[in-house]
Amino acid sequence: MESKTSSCIVLLALATSLVIFQMASAGDPDILTDFVLPLGVPSVDASYFTFSGLRGLVGAPPPEKFKVTKAAMTEFPALNGQSVSYAILQYPAGSVNPVHTHPRSAELLFLMSGTLEVGFIDTTNKIFTQTLQIGDVFVFPKGLVHYQYNADAENCAWGISAFGSANAGTVSVPNSVFNTSIPDNILAKSFKTDIITIQKIKAGLA
Ligand SMILES: *[C@@H]1O[C@H](CO)[C@@H](O)[C@H](O)[C@H]1NC(C)=O
Repeated sequence: MESKTSSCIVLLALATSLVIFQMASAGDPDILTDFVLPLGVPSVDASYFTFSGLRGLVGAPPPEKFKVTKAAMTEFPALNGQSVSYAILQYPAGSVNPVHTHPRSAELLFLMSGTLEVGFIDTTNKIFTQTLQIGDVFVFPKGLVHYQYNADAENCAWGISAFGSANAGTVSVPNSVFNTSIPDNILAKSFKTDIITIQKIKAGLA
């Protein structure tokens, strides 16, 4: 009886420390070097730590459709292990960045021009919405479903988002649910509707 109780306590302590460990490692894993070099590359100079892939955006006309330009680990390998990245967001008049999540990071959006309707849903399904003005900063908490919409019929909006991960990841809700191979009958049951309705939604995204 006594040993049962003590092994329970040990298990509980183990489980608690696991939870605390997971909370402490909620960002990208720490690296044990100053920076990470690409495989087979013995040394680098400052150009490795410089990303010029956003230069073309400065002064360029707005795109036709909503556009994201990333400076994350894929585009800028020096970010590997540094737990930071950027995305430049361009919203032509009336465009939306459809509902999505970033599984590995919160998003800190700075609105550089225009106005922007933003919103996110917490895990109790409560919605938080805001109309951002130039110069405002909004945080989308890690992993929560969110969107941005430029409701202005004439003016473009520009934002820059910072992430606390070199590879925050994006899960687009419309695409991951309706533009993959989840069977129509599963979706129809999941959304309490019929297969025709599901196929209509799928056709719009294909
Ligand atoms: C749906 O998936 C296809 C194939 O992966 C892709 O080309 C298309 O852009 C996706 N649709 C949307 C709206 O992103």
